[in-house]
Order: sequence, then structure tokens, then C-alpha cells
Amino acid sequence: MNNILITGGAGYLGSHACLNLLEAGYGIYIVDSLENSSFESISRVNRFFKEKNKFADNKIKFFKADITNFEKLKIIFEHALCNNQKIIAVLHFAGLKAVSESEENPIKYWEYNVSGSINLFKVMELYDCKNIVFSSSAAVYGNNQNCPIKEDSSLIPSNVYGKTKKTIEEILTDLHFRKNWGVAILRYFNPVGAHHSGIIGENPISNKNNLFPIICEVAKDNNKKLNIFGKDWPTRDGTCLRDYVHVEDIIDGHEKALRLLLNSKHNLIKVNLGTGKGTTVLELINTFKKVNDIKIEYEFSERRIGDCGVLFADSRLSNSILNWKARKTLDDICRDGWRWGLKNPYGYIKNLEELDLSIYCEI
Ligand code: UFG
Repeated sequence: MNNILITGGAGYLGSHACLNLLEAGYGIYIVDSLENSSFESISRVNRFFKEKNKFADNKIKFFKADITNFEKLKIIFEHALCNNQKIIAVLHFAGLKAVSESEENPIKYWEYNVSGSINLFKVMELYDCKNIVFSSSAAVYGNNQNCPIKEDSSLIPSNVYGKTKKTIEEILTDLHFRKNWGVAILRYFNPVGAHHSGIIGENPISNKNNLFPIICEVAKDNNKKLNIFGKDWPTRDGTCLRDYVHVEDIIDGHEKALRLLLNSKHNLIKVNLGTGKGTTVLELINTFKKVNDIKIEYEFSERRIGDCGVLFADSRLSNSILNWKARKTLDDICRDGWRWGLKNPYGYIKNLEELDLSIYCEI
């Protein structure tokens, strides 16, 4: 069986990737520190998969470890070898992602995102694993770009978070040219929504600043109001415009990139994952209200420091290289995101009975 290591596999994107790759027939190794993620997500993914595939064995192995820990990463690759298996590629999601925190604590971000990634690459080299799909971000472009943003735009990140992503992209580009690695760099715009089943979704523990989870919070609680940051941006209704992509589409892009790396030797792919369409904050709120028939109270406040007014992707390159296109609509995003919110009003709650310890490997 082809085994894939997913770093950050218990997180929002990582858990969706696990389910997608399980369904595509891969064996999954997960490494996650569980600092901003939940083992419940992976337990649910395993259970969901096994309910649909009655006679399937466990195809997930979970390891609780931090990517900055070289020895533990080695143990994971060693574990695969001892079972006559090989990890043939990595999907690298693990990383810190709160823009404002990265400005307050640059060392933490450089250390975790960049040193952690270098550690991972060292272990991959040691075990001759030369294919990687990397979670990058539109943050590498910075705020002052003409939209739609093309992949060959200059990279001038406006914050420390974006700088760490840009640096990791550079290291991977060197590994491609100097060491023949297959590298897919996927620059996400705004991943939102949840799996259509409602079993997994976004469960922000430390980073609670993103718009979509806040809309869900306000929808759940009549006493809460959403603050819209600014109403004087140069957009059709004065609120900021972004490129929101359904999380299932984002993960579909990973599967396509992975296949391309595994089927053709020594590839280098750098593409945006965006819909190519911009949606304003007010449009997102109104769509959420309409499709879910629910109230969202809001008021306007000052612009948020560091925000930019307009950010959306040129999505043609991912379309031609990966044969990828976002298929889900804004209605799907709002419906699926709210299904997750309704089914899990408190997110993943610690419930020992829900945990599937059969996939947990002690290290
Ligand atoms: N917004 C509000 N009120 C809120 C939260 C957000 O009005 O309470 C607005 C913001 O001003 C922005 C839009 O909603 O215009 C989206 O904000 P998010 O925080 O959800 O997302 P950003 O586009 O600011 O940032 C996201 C990721 C970053 C990544 C960036 C790059 O969170 O990690 O996209 O595209 F760097």
C-alpha cells in the first residue's frame, strides 16, 4: 500500500486530507502535536471510514509528536520500515497560522514553521522520501498586489507568518533543483466550510480571528454580534473582499498534486488554490443567512490593522496544471459549515468513549 505521512493531520485541513486519502486507498501516518487540534477528529475519520467499508483494517497510524522533534520523526519512518512499509510522500500541514500572533512572537513562528520544516526535510532525506505537498498561503504575496493574483507576482509578505511560508517555499525549491525532490507548493486563499457529513470541521482552539468560524459562533448565540472591520474599503459594498474556498476543494487540490508528483518524476508545482472569485464580508454573511435561514447580528467597527481590502486568486494555473477547479459554491460552503456548527455546538469535546485508541501509536 502507498503510505503518506500527514503532518498536522488532526487539524482542520489535515483531518479532511486524511479522510480524502483514505477514500482514495492510501495508508496514512499522522504526526500531530495536538496543540491546536484534536485527536477526536482522527477518531471520527477512522470510524466514518470503517462504517462505510465494513471489512477494512485500520489504515491510520497516529503519532503524537511535534515536528521540531527530530528523534520522534525518525521513529515514525522507522515504524513504517519495521512493518515492511515505506512512506512515499508527505503532506505538510503542520505549522502555526495566526497572523497577529506571528507579529507579536516572531521567534516562535520562525522556530516552529521553519526549523520544524527543516527537521522534517532532514528526516525525509534520511529515509529517501522525496515527494512533498506543502501548505503555503496567499500570505506570501503580501497586501499590495493587483488582483486576481498570479503565481508569478512578486512575493512581498506583509507579516512574519507569510515570511515563514515564503522561506519554506524557497527551501523546497532548492530541494527540488539540487536533490530532485518532487515538490508541490499550494498557496491557499481562504479555506472555509466543513466536510459535508458534518463529522469534521474547523475547531479553532488558539486562533479565533477568522471570519467564518466567527459567523458560526454568532449564529449559535443570539447575544453575540459580529464586528465587520471597516465599511469604507474600495469594494462594491465597502467591506473587504476575499476568495473563500470550500475545505473539500482545497483537499481535492492536494490529492491531485500528490498524484501528479507520484506519477511523474521530479516535479515542481507552485499554484494558487482559489476560486478566482471575490466575495465581500457582507455577501458572505447574507449568503449564510439565506441558505441556513438564520439571523446574524453585526455592526461595523474600524478597519483591522494589517488587513487589505481586496484579495483573490487567479486560478487558471491550478486549473491547467492540476486539472483542479473549486466545485463547491458559496451556498455549499455556508450550508456545510453550519451543519458542522449545529452538530458540534462545542466543537470536539473530550469524550473518552468517542476516542479510537486503536490508531494511537505510543512514541
Ligand atoms: N473580518 C471581519 N470581522 C471579523 C473577522 C474578520 O470583518 O471578526 C474580515 C476581515 O477584515 C477580512 C475578512 O473578514 O476582510 C477575512 O478575514 P479572515 O481573518 O477570515 O482571513 P484573512 O483573509 O484576513 O486571512 C486569511 C488567513 C491567513 C492568510 C490570509 C492570506 O487567515 O492565515 O488569509 O490570504 F495569511
